[in-house]
Amino acid sequence: MDVYEAVTSRRAVRGFKDEPVSSEVLERVLSAAAWSPSGSNIQPWNTYVLIGAPLAELKCRAVERVVHGDPWDERQYEMYPPALKSPYGERRSAFGKERYSALGIAREDWEARQRAAIANWNCFGAPAALFCYIDRDLGRP
Ligand SMILES: Cc1cc2nc3c(=O)[nH]c(=O)nc-3n(C[C@H](O)[C@H](O)[C@H](O)COP(=O)(O)O)c2cc1C
Repeated sequence: MDVYEAVTSRRAVRGFKDEPVSSEVLERVLSAAAWSPSGSNIQPWNTYVLIGAPLAELKCRAVERVVHGDPWDERQYEMYPPALKSPYGERRSAFGKERYSALGIAREDWEARQRAAIANWNCFGAPAALFCYIDRDLGRP
């Protein structure tokens, strides 16, 4: 596939088949990702790969916490500043509108919105989840 086609045909997928992903595929994906550049070539990334029973348990625990209105752990980092300045705030609202209208969810339908949010914690049904992280003591940069 042409690299431009690969880049422009990429999209967020929020519904996955439950077909297992083979370890060969996971290894291929991760080996390819390891070719990514990094500052001073320190290759700071680490990945947890979850499949099968451990993934099922994690999804279950996370979904249960949301369903029970758990306030979650204290955030270690804010995802966004409280007031998202222009043009980012507008983009975020436009995205929310598009997404919920595509799902047929009305703005005031809190329960349906909650269900859609919960799908995140179920990894949108994906049978494999990759948690990528860097060591905390590497600092913010
Ligand atoms: C760092 C990052 C975090 C994201 N987090 C979520 C998420 O928690 N839930 C979700 O449904 N989509 C998430 N997305 C997907 C974005 O909403 C999506 O990429 C964006 O709307 C653009 O749409 P596209 O990927 O289909 O082009 C995330 C994307 C990125 C890059």
